[in-house]
Amino acid sequence: MLKILFSREDIEGAVKGLALRIEQDFDNEKIIFICLLKGSFMFTSDLVRCIANPSRVDFIRVSSYGAGMTSKGTITITKDLEEDIAGENVVIVEDIIDSGLTLTYVTDMLRKRNPKSLKICALLDKRARREIEIEGDYVGFTIDDGFVVGYGIDFAEQYRNLPEIYVVESDDSCKTA
Ligand code: PRP
Repeated sequence: MLKILFSREDIEGAVKGLALRIEQDFDNEKIIFICLLKGSFMFTSDLVRCIANPSRVDFIRVSSYGAGMTSKGTITITKDLEEDIAGENVVIVEDIIDSGLTLTYVTDMLRKRNPKSLKICALLDKRARREIEIEGDYVGFTIDDGFVVGYGIDFAEQYRNLPEIYVVESDDSCKTA
């Protein structure tokens, strides 16, 4: 069962707020936005439309989760960037920070390519679940533990198309005595 967590309006407000902060920090400088596939495709699409800086968008795909609700803890790159990020302002766009394993791996890897700056913009932050210390520079919402779907985020590849963000609740919690 899905229970709504953030409406379209909530998300739109958060995205506009994040975009404004990025615009203010980068003062019309060039930015390369890196969309971490797949979960961030919708967030990236909305975010970059709110940003007036001269921008490029690239995509990276790493796999860290299986079809279940828990992390595998193993990360591999399945699609690398096409852009050269050396000397560039880079903003990684992430749908959700959970254990922090994915972003730690990705930021370590991208730093070795010598960007001018490297920032993290995350829509959701499940801070209580962190296993490695890493913080987003721009964070939309800090949320409690619980499995969320929608707005690009999946459960076993389902629900990415939902325009709102929901918490997945187990059927047991819905049963009445
Ligand atoms: C999810 C999510 C983040 C990552 C966060 O991606 O989109 O990228 O997990 O978890 P972590 O902080 O514990 O590493 P996933 O690997 O499920 O791939 P997807 O984006 O293709 O759904």
